[in-house]
Amino acid sequence: MNTATAERLIRPAQNIFGSIRLPGDKSISHRYGMLAAFARGVSRFQNFSTGADCASTLACMTQLGASVSRLEDGTVEITGVGGQVRQPAAPLDCGNSGSTMRMLSGLLAAQPGEFTLIGDESLSRRPMERIRKPLTEMGAALTLTDGHAPLTLRGGALRPIDFTTPVPSAQVKTSILLAGLQTAGTTIVREAIRTRDHSELALRAFGARIERSMENGLNAVSVTGPQSLSAMEATVPGDISSAAFFLCAAALFPGSQLLIDGLGLNPTRATLLDALTAFGAQIAVLHLEEQNAELVGTVQITAPVEGIGTTEISGSLAAQLIDELPVLAAIAPYSRGGIRIRDAKELRVKESDRIALTVANLRAMGAEVTEHEDGLDVPGGQSLHGAIIDAGGDHRIAMAFSVAALRASGETLIRGSESAAISFPEFFEMLNFVAER
Ligand code: S3P
Repeated sequence: MNTATAERLIRPAQNIFGSIRLPGDKSISHRYGMLAAFARGVSRFQNFSTGADCASTLACMTQLGASVSRLEDGTVEITGVGGQVRQPAAPLDCGNSGSTMRMLSGLLAAQPGEFTLIGDESLSRRPMERIRKPLTEMGAALTLTDGHAPLTLRGGALRPIDFTTPVPSAQVKTSILLAGLQTAGTTIVREAIRTRDHSELALRAFGARIERSMENGLNAVSVTGPQSLSAMEATVPGDISSAAFFLCAAALFPGSQLLIDGLGLNPTRATLLDALTAFGAQIAVLHLEEQNAELVGTVQITAPVEGIGTTEISGSLAAQLIDELPVLAAIAPYSRGGIRIRDAKELRVKESDRIALTVANLRAMGAEVTEHEDGLDVPGGQSLHGAIIDAGGDHRIAMAFSVAALRASGETLIRGSESAAISFPEFFEMLNFVAER
Protein backbone atom coordinates (compact mmCIF):
# COMPACT_ATOMS: atom_id res chain seq x y z
CA MET A 1 0.00 0.00 0.00
CA ASN A 2 1.24 3.48 -0.79
CA THR A 3 0.66 5.03 2.61
CA ALA A 4 0.85 8.54 1.20
CA THR A 5 -2.51 8.01 -0.51
CA ALA A 6 -4.47 5.81 1.89
CA GLU A 7 -8.21 6.50 1.74
CA ARG A 8 -11.16 5.89 4.06
CA LEU A 9 -14.80 6.00 3.16
CA ILE A 10 -17.02 7.46 5.87
CA ARG A 11 -20.76 6.73 5.72
CA PRO A 12 -23.31 8.92 7.49
CA ALA A 13 -24.42 7.78 10.95
CA GLN A 14 -27.79 7.83 12.75
CA ASN A 15 -26.42 8.29 16.23
CA ILE A 16 -23.38 8.06 18.48
CA PHE A 17 -23.67 5.65 21.35
CA GLY A 18 -21.30 3.78 23.60
CA SER A 19 -18.63 3.74 26.21
CA ILE A 20 -14.96 4.12 25.32
CA ARG A 21 -11.50 4.62 26.78
CA LEU A 22 -8.82 6.36 24.77
CA PRO A 23 -5.12 5.69 24.23
CA GLY A 24 -2.72 7.76 26.30
CA ASP A 25 -2.41 11.51 25.91
CA LYS A 26 0.14 12.50 23.27
CA SER A 27 1.50 15.52 25.16
CA ILE A 28 1.93 13.57 28.40
CA SER A 29 3.45 10.53 26.64
CA HIS A 30 6.07 12.73 24.92
CA ARG A 31 7.05 14.17 28.28
CA TYR A 32 7.02 10.90 30.24
CA GLY A 33 9.00 9.23 27.45
CA MET A 34 11.60 11.99 27.16
CA LEU A 35 12.05 12.48 30.91
CA ALA A 36 12.19 8.73 31.64
CA ALA A 37 14.87 8.34 28.98
CA PHE A 38 16.86 11.15 30.57
CA ALA A 39 16.32 10.08 34.19
CA ARG A 40 18.21 7.58 36.27
CA GLY A 41 16.57 4.14 36.57
CA VAL A 42 13.79 2.16 34.94
CA SER A 43 10.38 3.80 34.35
CA ARG A 44 7.22 1.99 33.30
CA PHE A 45 4.12 3.42 31.67
CA GLN A 46 0.71 1.93 31.01
CA ASN A 47 -1.51 3.32 28.25
CA PHE A 48 1.39 5.12 26.59
CA SER A 49 0.36 6.89 23.37
CA THR A 50 0.23 4.57 20.38
CA GLY A 51 0.74 7.46 17.94
CA ALA A 52 3.66 7.79 15.53
CA ASP A 53 4.65 11.13 17.09
CA CYS A 54 5.46 9.61 20.47
CA ALA A 55 7.25 6.76 18.71
CA SER A 56 9.48 9.47 17.15
CA THR A 57 10.34 10.75 20.62
CA LEU A 58 11.18 7.23 21.82
CA ALA A 59 13.29 6.52 18.73
CA CYS A 60 15.31 9.72 19.26
CA MET A 61 15.81 8.88 22.93
CA THR A 62 17.02 5.39 21.97
CA GLN A 63 19.59 6.96 19.63
CA LEU A 64 20.68 9.06 22.60
CA GLY A 65 21.39 5.98 24.70
CA ALA A 66 18.13 5.12 26.48
CA SER A 67 16.64 1.68 26.09
CA VAL A 68 12.95 1.31 25.37
CA SER A 69 10.86 -1.83 25.22
CA ARG A 70 7.17 -2.60 24.91
CA LEU A 71 6.27 -5.45 27.25
CA GLU A 72 3.67 -8.06 26.33
CA ASP A 73 0.92 -6.36 28.33
CA GLY A 74 1.56 -3.08 26.45
CA THR A 75 3.62 -1.45 29.21
CA VAL A 76 6.38 0.79 27.88
CA GLU A 77 9.57 0.27 29.87
CA ILE A 78 12.33 2.84 29.60
CA THR A 79 15.81 2.68 31.08
CA GLY A 80 17.21 6.19 31.27
CA VAL A 81 20.68 7.54 30.62
CA GLY A 82 21.02 9.12 34.06
CA GLY A 83 21.38 12.70 32.89
CA GLN A 84 24.08 12.23 30.26
CA VAL A 85 23.09 11.36 26.68
CA ARG A 86 25.22 9.48 24.20
CA GLN A 87 26.42 11.19 21.02
CA PRO A 88 24.06 9.82 18.32
CA ALA A 89 25.58 8.19 15.24
CA ALA A 90 22.99 9.68 12.86
CA PRO A 91 20.67 12.74 12.79
CA LEU A 92 17.76 12.57 15.23
CA ASP A 93 14.60 12.11 13.15
CA CYS A 94 11.62 13.85 14.78
CA GLY A 95 9.26 12.73 11.99
CA ASN A 96 6.09 14.86 12.01
CA SER A 97 6.46 15.88 15.64
CA GLY A 98 6.99 19.52 16.58
CA SER A 99 6.86 18.56 20.27
CA THR A 100 9.79 16.17 19.83
CA MET A 101 11.93 18.69 17.97
CA ARG A 102 11.26 21.68 20.21
CA MET A 103 11.40 19.92 23.57
CA LEU A 104 14.38 17.72 22.70
CA SER A 105 16.35 20.79 21.54
CA GLY A 106 16.04 22.22 25.05
CA LEU A 107 17.13 18.98 26.65
CA LEU A 108 20.16 18.68 24.34
CA ALA A 109 21.16 22.35 24.55
CA ALA A 110 22.78 21.64 27.91
CA GLN A 111 24.46 18.40 26.82
CA PRO A 112 28.04 18.45 25.52
CA GLY A 113 28.25 17.44 21.87
CA GLU A 114 26.75 18.26 18.51
CA PHE A 115 23.28 17.15 17.49
CA THR A 116 21.34 17.40 14.24
CA LEU A 117 17.54 17.25 14.36
CA ILE A 118 15.57 16.58 11.20
CA GLY A 119 11.89 16.10 10.41
CA ASP A 120 9.48 15.27 7.62
CA GLU A 121 8.37 17.77 5.00
CA SER A 122 5.65 19.28 7.23
CA LEU A 123 7.92 19.63 10.27
CA SER A 124 10.64 21.13 8.08
CA ARG A 125 8.27 24.02 7.28
CA ARG A 126 7.37 24.82 10.89
CA PRO A 127 8.86 27.79 12.77
CA MET A 128 11.86 26.98 14.96
CA GLU A 129 13.13 30.50 15.56
CA ARG A 130 10.94 30.45 18.68
CA ILE A 131 13.33 27.97 20.33
CA ARG A 132 16.53 29.30 18.75
CA LYS A 133 16.13 32.65 20.47
CA PRO A 134 15.90 31.54 24.14
CA LEU A 135 18.34 28.64 23.77
CA THR A 136 20.90 30.91 22.10
CA GLU A 137 20.39 33.44 24.88
CA MET A 138 21.26 30.65 27.31
CA GLY A 139 24.52 30.06 25.42
CA ALA A 140 23.76 27.13 23.11
CA ALA A 141 24.82 27.34 19.46
CA LEU A 142 21.75 26.53 17.41
CA THR A 143 21.67 26.83 13.63
CA LEU A 144 18.48 26.66 11.59
CA THR A 145 17.90 26.29 7.88
CA ASP A 146 16.02 29.47 6.91
CA GLY A 147 14.18 29.49 10.26
CA HIS A 148 13.31 25.80 10.06
CA ALA A 149 14.67 22.29 10.52
CA PRO A 150 17.12 20.72 9.87
CA LEU A 151 18.67 22.24 12.95
CA THR A 152 22.06 21.67 14.46
CA LEU A 153 22.80 22.24 18.05
CA ARG A 154 26.09 22.51 19.88
CA GLY A 155 25.28 22.07 23.52
CA GLY A 156 27.24 22.61 26.69
CA ALA A 157 27.20 24.55 29.95
CA LEU A 158 24.47 27.22 29.78
CA ARG A 159 23.50 30.31 31.76
CA PRO A 160 19.99 30.75 33.21
CA ILE A 161 17.52 33.18 31.61
CA ASP A 162 14.34 34.99 32.50
CA PHE A 163 12.27 34.67 29.34
CA THR A 164 8.78 35.83 28.37
CA THR A 165 7.36 33.77 25.50
CA PRO A 166 6.14 36.01 22.66
CA VAL A 167 3.68 33.35 21.39
CA PRO A 168 1.90 31.07 23.86
CA SER A 169 3.60 27.69 23.43
CA ALA A 170 3.92 24.79 25.84
CA GLN A 171 6.61 23.31 23.62
CA VAL A 172 8.79 26.42 23.88
CA LYS A 173 8.14 26.67 27.63
CA THR A 174 9.19 23.03 28.03
CA SER A 175 12.27 23.48 25.87
CA ILE A 176 13.54 26.26 28.13
CA LEU A 177 12.66 24.37 31.32
CA LEU A 178 14.55 21.26 30.16
CA ALA A 179 17.62 23.39 29.45
CA GLY A 180 17.15 25.22 32.77
CA LEU A 181 16.91 21.95 34.68
CA GLN A 182 20.55 21.24 33.77
CA THR A 183 21.81 24.82 34.24
CA ALA A 184 23.27 26.32 37.43
CA GLY A 185 21.00 29.12 38.66
CA THR A 186 17.30 29.89 38.26
CA THR A 187 15.68 29.86 34.83
CA ILE A 188 12.26 31.50 34.58
CA VAL A 189 9.69 31.23 31.78
CA ARG A 190 6.81 33.71 31.78
CA GLU A 191 3.71 33.43 29.64
CA ALA A 192 0.71 35.73 29.18
CA ILE A 193 -1.64 32.82 28.51
CA ARG A 194 -1.14 29.76 30.64
CA THR A 195 -0.37 26.90 28.25
CA ARG A 196 -0.70 23.21 29.07
CA ASP A 197 1.33 22.42 32.18
CA HIS A 198 2.12 18.73 31.67
CA SER A 199 5.87 19.43 31.77
CA GLU A 200 5.67 21.14 35.12
CA LEU A 201 3.63 18.24 36.54
CA ALA A 202 5.79 15.56 34.89
CA LEU A 203 9.05 17.13 36.06
CA ARG A 204 7.73 17.04 39.62
CA ALA A 205 6.63 13.42 39.19
CA PHE A 206 10.23 12.61 38.19
CA GLY A 207 11.43 14.29 41.37
CA ALA A 208 12.35 17.80 40.20
CA ARG A 209 11.49 21.00 42.08
CA ILE A 210 9.55 23.45 39.92
CA GLU A 211 8.05 26.69 41.24
CA ARG A 212 4.98 28.41 39.82
CA SER A 213 3.54 31.85 40.49
CA MET A 214 1.48 34.63 38.95
CA GLU A 215 3.45 37.87 38.59
CA ASN A 216 2.06 41.00 36.93
CA GLY A 217 -0.59 38.93 35.21
CA LEU A 218 1.97 36.51 33.78
CA ASN A 219 2.22 32.84 34.62
CA ALA A 220 5.80 32.31 35.80
CA VAL A 221 7.47 28.89 36.00
CA SER A 222 10.95 28.58 37.42
CA VAL A 223 13.48 25.83 37.83
CA THR A 224 16.76 26.03 39.71
CA GLY A 225 19.41 23.74 38.31
CA PRO A 226 21.20 21.55 38.13
CA GLN A 227 18.75 18.87 39.18
CA SER A 228 18.55 15.19 38.35
CA LEU A 229 15.50 13.07 37.61
CA SER A 230 14.55 9.67 39.01
CA ALA A 231 12.50 6.98 37.26
CA MET A 232 8.80 6.63 37.99
CA GLU A 233 5.75 4.56 37.05
CA ALA A 234 2.45 5.90 35.74
CA THR A 235 -0.64 5.25 33.69
CA VAL A 236 -1.01 7.86 30.97
CA PRO A 237 -4.49 9.44 31.03
CA GLY A 238 -6.64 9.12 27.89
CA ASP A 239 -6.02 11.86 25.35
CA ILE A 240 -8.63 14.63 25.58
CA SER A 241 -7.62 15.96 22.15
CA SER A 242 -8.48 12.53 20.70
CA ALA A 243 -11.67 12.51 22.78
CA ALA A 244 -12.59 15.81 21.09
CA PHE A 245 -13.49 13.95 17.88
CA PHE A 246 -15.89 11.65 19.71
CA LEU A 247 -17.36 14.39 21.89
CA CYS A 248 -17.96 16.53 18.80
CA ALA A 249 -19.46 13.55 16.95
CA ALA A 250 -21.86 12.96 19.85
CA ALA A 251 -22.74 16.67 19.90
CA LEU A 252 -24.04 16.29 16.33
CA PHE A 253 -26.81 13.82 17.17
CA PRO A 254 -29.72 14.69 19.45
CA GLY A 255 -30.26 11.60 21.57
CA SER A 256 -26.64 10.49 21.39
CA GLN A 257 -25.00 9.23 24.53
CA LEU A 258 -21.30 8.68 24.99
CA LEU A 259 -19.25 7.87 28.05
CA ILE A 260 -15.47 8.23 28.11
CA ASP A 261 -13.54 7.03 31.12
CA GLY A 262 -9.89 7.24 32.14
CA LEU A 263 -9.80 10.60 30.37
CA GLY A 264 -7.16 13.26 31.07
CA LEU A 265 -8.93 16.32 32.47
CA ASN A 266 -5.99 18.59 33.27
CA PRO A 267 -7.59 22.06 33.59
CA THR A 268 -5.22 23.50 30.95
CA ARG A 269 -6.74 21.00 28.49
CA ALA A 270 -10.30 20.52 29.72
CA THR A 271 -11.29 23.92 28.30
CA LEU A 272 -12.78 21.76 25.56
CA LEU A 273 -15.56 20.68 27.90
CA ASP A 274 -16.40 24.33 28.65
CA ALA A 275 -16.38 25.12 24.94
CA LEU A 276 -18.73 22.25 24.13
CA THR A 277 -21.01 23.25 26.99
CA ALA A 278 -21.08 26.83 25.67
CA PHE A 279 -21.90 25.36 22.27
CA GLY A 280 -24.95 23.67 23.82
CA ALA A 281 -23.86 20.09 24.56
CA GLN A 282 -24.67 18.61 27.96
CA ILE A 283 -21.58 17.37 29.71
CA ALA A 284 -21.26 15.65 33.07
CA VAL A 285 -18.05 14.69 34.86
CA LEU A 286 -19.04 11.52 36.72
CA HIS A 287 -15.77 10.76 38.45
CA LEU A 288 -12.52 12.63 39.03
CA GLU A 289 -9.23 11.60 40.58
CA GLU A 290 -5.59 12.63 40.60
CA GLN A 291 -2.79 10.48 39.16
CA ASN A 292 0.75 11.87 39.34
CA ALA A 293 -0.79 15.35 39.68
CA GLU A 294 -2.79 14.92 36.46
CA LEU A 295 -6.59 14.90 36.78
CA VAL A 296 -8.30 11.87 35.28
CA GLY A 297 -12.02 11.26 35.08
CA THR A 298 -15.15 9.98 33.40
CA VAL A 299 -17.10 12.25 31.08
CA GLN A 300 -20.58 11.79 29.71
CA ILE A 301 -21.96 13.83 26.83
CA THR A 302 -25.46 14.10 25.44
CA ALA A 303 -26.76 16.45 22.77
CA PRO A 304 -29.95 18.49 23.24
CA VAL A 305 -32.97 17.58 21.10
CA GLU A 306 -32.94 20.98 19.43
CA GLY A 307 -29.28 20.55 18.44
CA ILE A 308 -26.25 22.55 19.54
CA GLY A 309 -26.40 26.35 19.39
CA THR A 310 -23.70 28.90 18.69
CA THR A 311 -20.34 29.87 20.12
CA GLU A 312 -17.35 32.16 19.77
CA ILE A 313 -13.76 31.18 20.46
CA SER A 314 -11.21 33.97 20.72
CA GLY A 315 -8.50 35.38 22.99
CA SER A 316 -6.94 32.96 25.47
CA LEU A 317 -9.63 30.36 24.67
CA ALA A 318 -8.29 30.08 21.13
CA ALA A 319 -4.79 29.30 22.43
CA GLN A 320 -6.06 26.74 24.92
CA LEU A 321 -8.25 25.00 22.32
CA ILE A 322 -5.79 25.25 19.46
CA ASP A 323 -5.74 21.50 18.66
CA GLU A 324 -9.52 21.18 18.88
CA LEU A 325 -10.46 24.11 16.62
CA PRO A 326 -10.57 22.13 13.34
CA VAL A 327 -13.15 19.67 14.67
CA LEU A 328 -15.20 22.40 16.37
CA ALA A 329 -15.30 24.24 13.03
CA ALA A 330 -16.13 21.00 11.20
CA ILE A 331 -19.31 20.39 13.25
CA ALA A 332 -20.38 24.04 13.25
CA PRO A 333 -22.41 23.99 9.99
CA TYR A 334 -24.82 21.53 11.64
CA SER A 335 -25.32 23.72 14.70
CA ARG A 336 -28.15 26.26 14.93
CA GLY A 337 -25.96 29.37 15.14
CA GLY A 338 -22.50 28.42 13.89
CA ILE A 339 -19.07 29.32 15.22
CA ARG A 340 -16.81 32.36 15.13
CA ILE A 341 -13.10 31.67 15.67
CA ARG A 342 -10.48 34.43 16.05
CA ASP A 343 -6.98 34.93 17.53
CA ALA A 344 -6.00 31.51 16.18
CA LYS A 345 -3.25 32.51 13.76
CA GLU A 346 -1.05 29.74 15.20
CA LEU A 347 -3.32 27.28 13.37
CA ARG A 348 -1.54 28.32 10.18
CA VAL A 349 1.80 26.91 11.39
CA LYS A 350 0.66 23.57 12.76
CA GLU A 351 1.17 20.25 10.89
CA SER A 352 -0.62 22.06 8.03
CA ASP A 353 -2.21 25.47 7.55
CA ARG A 354 -5.25 24.32 9.47
CA ILE A 355 -7.32 27.42 8.71
CA ALA A 356 -6.86 27.04 4.94
CA LEU A 357 -7.48 23.27 4.98
CA THR A 358 -10.53 23.51 7.24
CA VAL A 359 -12.03 26.19 4.99
CA ALA A 360 -11.25 24.26 1.77
CA ASN A 361 -12.69 21.01 3.09
CA LEU A 362 -15.83 22.64 4.51
CA ARG A 363 -16.39 24.22 1.09
CA ALA A 364 -15.82 20.84 -0.61
CA MET A 365 -18.75 19.55 1.48
CA GLY A 366 -20.90 22.44 0.31
CA ALA A 367 -20.62 24.65 3.40
CA GLU A 368 -20.58 28.41 3.44
CA VAL A 369 -17.56 29.67 5.40
CA THR A 370 -15.56 32.90 5.65
CA GLU A 371 -11.79 32.73 6.06
CA HIS A 372 -9.89 35.25 8.21
CA GLU A 373 -6.16 35.60 8.72
CA ASP A 374 -6.56 34.47 12.34
CA GLY A 375 -9.68 32.32 12.20
CA LEU A 376 -12.93 31.59 10.39
CA ASP A 377 -16.69 32.07 10.55
CA VAL A 378 -18.96 29.12 9.92
CA PRO A 379 -22.69 29.90 9.85
CA GLY A 380 -25.05 27.33 11.37
CA GLY A 381 -28.16 25.71 9.93
CA GLN A 382 -26.39 24.26 6.90
CA SER A 383 -26.74 20.87 5.20
CA LEU A 384 -23.53 19.32 3.92
CA HIS A 385 -22.97 16.65 1.33
CA GLY A 386 -20.33 13.94 1.16
CA ALA A 387 -17.15 14.93 -0.67
CA ILE A 388 -13.53 14.07 -1.29
CA ILE A 389 -11.51 15.45 1.61
CA ASP A 390 -7.82 16.26 1.38
CA ALA A 391 -6.28 15.66 4.81
CA GLY A 392 -3.12 17.43 3.64
CA GLY A 393 -0.99 15.00 5.66
CA ASP A 394 -2.53 16.39 8.86
CA HIS A 395 -3.94 13.94 11.41
CA ARG A 396 -6.38 16.38 12.99
CA ILE A 397 -7.82 17.40 9.60
CA ALA A 398 -8.35 13.73 8.62
CA MET A 399 -10.21 13.06 11.87
CA ALA A 400 -12.17 16.35 12.00
CA PHE A 401 -13.68 15.73 8.57
CA SER A 402 -14.45 12.10 9.35
CA VAL A 403 -16.66 13.54 12.09
CA ALA A 404 -18.26 16.12 9.79
CA ALA A 405 -18.97 13.27 7.34
CA LEU A 406 -21.19 11.51 9.89
CA ARG A 407 -23.97 14.08 9.41
CA ALA A 408 -23.48 14.73 5.68
CA SER A 409 -25.73 13.31 2.98
CA GLY A 410 -23.88 10.62 1.05
CA GLU A 411 -20.43 9.21 1.57
CA THR A 412 -17.18 11.07 2.19
CA LEU A 413 -13.76 9.92 1.10
CA ILE A 414 -10.88 10.95 3.36
CA ARG A 415 -7.70 11.11 1.29
CA GLY A 416 -4.56 10.81 3.34
CA SER A 417 -6.44 9.03 6.14
CA GLU A 418 -3.21 7.31 7.26
CA SER A 419 -2.15 10.57 8.88
CA ALA A 420 -4.59 9.87 11.76
CA ALA A 421 -1.93 7.44 13.04
CA ILE A 422 0.30 10.38 13.93
CA SER A 423 -1.69 10.77 17.14
CA PHE A 424 -4.42 8.10 17.05
CA PRO A 425 -3.95 4.89 15.02
CA GLU A 426 -7.16 3.38 16.46
CA PHE A 427 -9.34 6.32 15.39
CA PHE A 428 -11.33 4.83 12.49
CA GLU A 429 -11.95 1.56 14.29
CA MET A 430 -13.26 3.37 17.37
CA LEU A 431 -15.39 5.72 15.30
CA ASN A 432 -17.03 2.71 13.66
CA PHE A 433 -17.62 1.23 17.09
CA VAL A 434 -19.63 4.22 18.39
CA ALA A 435 -21.34 5.31 15.16
CA GLU A 436 -24.78 3.70 14.79
CA ARG A 437 -25.81 3.28 11.19
C1 S3P B 1 1.77 20.70 22.52
C2 S3P B 1 1.61 22.06 22.50
C3 S3P B 1 0.86 22.76 21.47
C4 S3P B 1 -0.06 21.81 20.71
C5 S3P B 1 0.64 20.55 20.30
C6 S3P B 1 1.16 19.82 21.51
C7 S3P B 1 2.57 20.11 23.59
O1 S3P B 1 1.77 23.33 20.55
O2 S3P B 1 -0.61 22.44 19.59
O3 S3P B 1 -0.25 19.70 19.59
O4 S3P B 1 2.52 18.87 23.78
O5 S3P B 1 3.28 20.86 24.28
P1 S3P B 1 2.53 24.75 20.84
O6 S3P B 1 3.50 24.56 21.94
O7 S3P B 1 3.21 25.06 19.54
O8 S3P B 1 1.46 25.71 21.19
